[in-house]
Amino acid sequence: MEFSLKTKLVTGYGCLKKIGEIVQSFGVKKVLLCTDAFLLQTPAAHTIQRELEERGIGCVVYDQPQSEPTDVQCDEGAKFCKEQEVELIVALGGGSVMDQAKAMSAIVTNGLSCCQLDNVSIPKRMLPLICIPTTAGTGSEVTFVAVITNTKAQYKMTIMDSDHLSPDIALCDPALLATLPPRLIASCGIDALTHAIEAHTSVLANPFSSALALHAMEMISKNLKRCWSSHSDMQAQEAMLLASTMAGAAFINSDVGAVHAIAETVGVAYHIPHGTANSLFLPYVMEFNRRGNEHCYAQIAERLGGACKDSDDVENSRRAVCFVQELIEKLEIPHFSDFSQVNPDDFEILAERAASNPMSYDNQKPIGKEDYIQILEDAYQNKKIYL
Ligand SMILES: NC(=O)c1ccc[n+]([C@@H]2O[C@H](COP(=O)([O-])OP(=O)(O)OC[C@H]3O[C@@H](n4cnc5c(N)ncnc54)[C@H](O)[C@@H]3O)[C@@H](O)[C@H]2O)c1
Ligand SMILES: [Fe+2]
Repeated sequence: MEFSLKTKLVTGYGCLKKIGEIVQSFGVKKVLLCTDAFLLQTPAAHTIQRELEERGIGCVVYDQPQSEPTDVQCDEGAKFCKEQEVELIVALGGGSVMDQAKAMSAIVTNGLSCCQLDNVSIPKRMLPLICIPTTAGTGSEVTFVAVITNTKAQYKMTIMDSDHLSPDIALCDPALLATLPPRLIASCGIDALTHAIEAHTSVLANPFSSALALHAMEMISKNLKRCWSSHSDMQAQEAMLLASTMAGAAFINSDVGAVHAIAETVGVAYHIPHGTANSLFLPYVMEFNRRGNEHCYAQIAERLGGACKDSDDVENSRRAVCFVQELIEKLEIPHFSDFSQVNPDDFEILAERAASNPMSYDNQKPIGKEDYIQILEDAYQNKKIYL
């Protein structure tokens, strides 16, 4: 068994103001602030610029990242980094900004194109990277993964390297979540829940990854709905940010599985954001995996707070699935059939692609094309799972 977390975590309300001293400790003179156009206008971006300026550290801004980055965008960003000769990147944003910063940074140090980083060990470490998450979902601030769309082949590349793509610092300040609309709190929160459930149930799970995953499930179950219903619930925001980081640390030491395999396939095909795409399939993949693994799902039900002490494992395993389906429903996340671009005639090819995605190989149970067709159909009919 191996378990590692190479990123140093700095957390807590207001910790963003430590950015100046943290960057200074790297001894660099010029930094790139990688963020998006919306976040650049927020007080967080101003704080970073001011803290660096006060310490005489040069800061150039790159605000081109958009949601779900592509190879072309990462190559462009890397070109800008090289021209500006920056020595360190501060990524302020959700998974999209953080992943783009990782890819840009590795392109710069390795002199390769983004697509050349796919499916290889990355030869040289990326530039120093400080990640500041502004969503509570992906855990990208501690993962050594960058999920980048390959525009020509139309699939999401998982660029990864445990030694050379781990952020140096994750600066997790829950105050930055206060501007998130409920829609993003919901979908990102379910992404984090999916990481926790898949990390715990993957064939690669180990006692350390599972301990983090199970604790993250409990925290998400207690706090996601609270965070979604109130902008001012600071305790719930802090818990969601910690839980999503924890779930990220769990899944990079295990893996994700069939939910991510089908969600990424469908997400690229129909331009459905990552967290929403996971929400569409999570209950149906859980229902598929649950059969034959009832004790494992009874344990999940217990951590989610949905188990009943008088019920046996079979019934409690069903309670886990119902609990998650009801949570997604309460968070008012759209259904698969609400997306007008979805065409059931595509299900066969989508199922084939998901089945050949390497994430399917680490799923709790072997899963093939026919299983995915059933999952797509159930999701499209918004099939209710009953006890
Ligand atoms: N690297 C990993 O380990 C990993 C894991 C899971 C997902 N991902 C990837 O992460 C991406 C999704 O990231 P995401 O779900 O964080 O969303 P995102 O980064 O795509 O952001 C979505 C939107 O939220 C806005 N936003 C971000 N923070 C905000 C805030 N505090 N207030 C208001 N608006 C805010 C952004 O401007 C953007 O428009 C996908 O590309 C997915 O594949 C990566
Ligand atoms: Fe994810």
